[in-house]
Order: sequence, then C-alpha cells, then structure tokens
Amino acid sequence: MPLITTIDDLEALARQRVPKMFYDYAQGGSWTESTSRINLADLAKIKFRQRIGVNIETRNLATNIVGQSAAMPVVLGPIGMCGLQRADGEILAARAAEASGVPFCLSTMSICSIEDLAQHVRQPFWFQLYIMRDRSFVEKLIMRAHEAKCPVLVVTLDLQILGQRHKDLRNGLSAPPKLTPRFLLDLLLRPQWSLEMLQTRRRGFGNIVGHVSGVKDMASLSAWTSAQFDPSVTWSDVAWIRKLWKGKLIVKGVMESEDARKAIDVGADGLVISNHGGRQLDGAPSSISALPKIKKLVGAETELLFDGGVRSGQDVLRALALGADSVLLGRAYLYGLGAMGQEGVRLCLEIIERELSLTMGFCGRTDVRSVDEDIVIV
Ligand code: GLV
Repeated sequence: MPLITTIDDLEALARQRVPKMFYDYAQGGSWTESTSRINLADLAKIKFRQRIGVNIETRNLATNIVGQSAAMPVVLGPIGMCGLQRADGEILAARAAEASGVPFCLSTMSICSIEDLAQHVRQPFWFQLYIMRDRSFVEKLIMRAHEAKCPVLVVTLDLQILGQRHKDLRNGLSAPPKLTPRFLLDLLLRPQWSLEMLQTRRRGFGNIVGHVSGVKDMASLSAWTSAQFDPSVTWSDVAWIRKLWKGKLIVKGVMESEDARKAIDVGADGLVISNHGGRQLDGAPSSISALPKIKKLVGAETELLFDGGVRSGQDVLRALALGADSVLLGRAYLYGLGAMGQEGVRLCLEIIERELSLTMGFCGRTDVRSVDEDIVIV
C-alpha cells in the first residue's frame, strides 16, 4: 500500500481501483474541461500572508453550518452515482462524515435511497434535490427527506440540461453499466470493486426505482431519468419548494450576484457558489473567482457555501478567506472512497483537517470563524 499523504495520492489509487467508466465520470468535466481545470488553477493562484509572533498553540476549526455544528467548515457534497465508485458508497461516505463530525449530503441521483441510508447512519444527513418534470415525484421526494429527518434541502439549479462529457459518451456510461467486453476486462483488472459490487443489491438509482409508476426495469428507468430533468424550471418553482420544505433550504449553482439576490428573495437560507465542478457550462469562470462579488452583495444576509476545485485544506482556507462560510467537497472525497472505501473518505477528511489547521496557524489565526481576506494577498 503506497503512503497516502495528499488527496492526489487518493486519486492515484482510485484510478487503479475504480473501473475507468466510473473514475472518468468522477474526474471529468464537460466539453474541453476548461472550467474544471481553472477551478483548481485559480485556487492555486491565491497566496497566503505568513504571520509570526502569534500564539497559535490552540487552534479551533469547529463551526456552524446552516445552524448545525460541525468539526470543521466542510461538507461532503451531493454526488450522483456515488455508490458506483465503490459498492454501498453513500453509506460508507456518510459513516466517515459522521465519524469526522461533518455533514453528508445525499444526491437525488444516488444509488442508495434516502430510507436505506437513514437506516445506516445516526446523524441526520442533508438531501439534494433535482426538480423533475413529475412534480408529484418531487413533492414525494421532499416528504421522504422530511421523514428521514434531513435538516437541509439543497436544490441544484444548474443541471436542468446536461453538459456533454466526452469521456462518458466514449465509455458508454450507464447505471448499472452494460456488460460490454471492454467493461468486463476492466472488471477483471479491478477484482475488489467487482466482488463488492456483486455482493451488494445497491446498483441502480435507489431514490427512483419503486417510486415512479412505469419504471420497472433499467431501460425504462434510464428513459424516465433523461426525460425528467426539467429545463423549464424557474424561481417560481423554488418558491414552491420553499413552501413545501420546513427545514433549511440551500440553492446550489449560484455564480452571479443577480441570481444570489433572487435565491434570497425566494427564501433560501444559504447558497452554494458553484459551477458544478466544471461539469456543466464549459467556459464559465472558476467558482472561486465568482465568490468575492457575491460575498460583497449578500454575504451579510445569507450563508455562503462554496465548491469547485478544492483538493486540500489550503484550498478550504482560500475559499474561507474570499468569503465562504463553508466548503463542499466533491471529487476530493470521491477519490478517497474509490481508493479505500470508508477509510479513504476518513483519510481525505483527516488530510484536509490537518492542512487547514496548520495553514491557518501559519497565517497567524487560531479560529476558523475569524478567517477573512487579510490572510491572503489580493
Ligand atoms: C451530476 O451531478 C453530475 O455532475 O454528473
């Protein structure tokens, strides 16, 4: 087993252990992948100011995220098909989040269903919602999240249509995967993944199968899913959800101040500044570059969450310095999951926590809640 000290180490291991079709799905971006790349590059450009002569012996990372206490300002963000990076992936990741004291957010397009996950964790998890054409299904999903005691609903608004991902097209991505000769060869090269996947019953979209009429087998499920993402969604649909959902409501996919204002006007309790990891609008700026202007406009009124390109505790600190209250991890934890299951996600969180604590100390700060733009050179 190689020594794992960074998220990049976890990625290298995930690449060996996860079938190419699913590794590529996690790693890739849309079209030229330019936005996916600049998410990382723009974060790396932000330089810290080294401070000395400050007592940094005791450092606090604990904080509140939309009213929930957390060991650090980090959330495991919603990921579609997380349970295909590793068998039962959502359960493993949620358990690692629980053990590390940070929230976990389940995706609508997860493999494990809301009810199933609720039976396997003690800490209430967040739920991410896609607004489907079938509004009665959406209403039922909201009820199901409520019954599972999810405290937070994250409504994603930047995936009503799908950005083209060349790798997924070439690999013939599907859930569950088609057993082509190329895929079968891949399975032979990844025996642990294959064995674990054979042993689980969780291989399709758990939130959907059995909950919509007319979906009996995988063919009808994939037809239903692709027909159900609703490009006609507007703010009035979010206002409708606001009326149905009594818990905290977060709008994900905000990149412009005008949209931040609209989300707050319809009653959002928080926003995720996000370009969906560069998986949707290729050519969009990095999400870190969008953060300061949104912070300036609405930072005093609402909570700002951030994602896009975070691969270290240093990146978490950069986002906090530029105005985020907390940060969602996507690929970073997925690589941990693909590499080593629950232990890999735990390791990912441990690496990020250590990097965050030490880097904050080098910047002369002892409390994550006091981090501001003075720690970076702008
Ligand atoms: C889903 O959220 C995706 O980006 O594939």
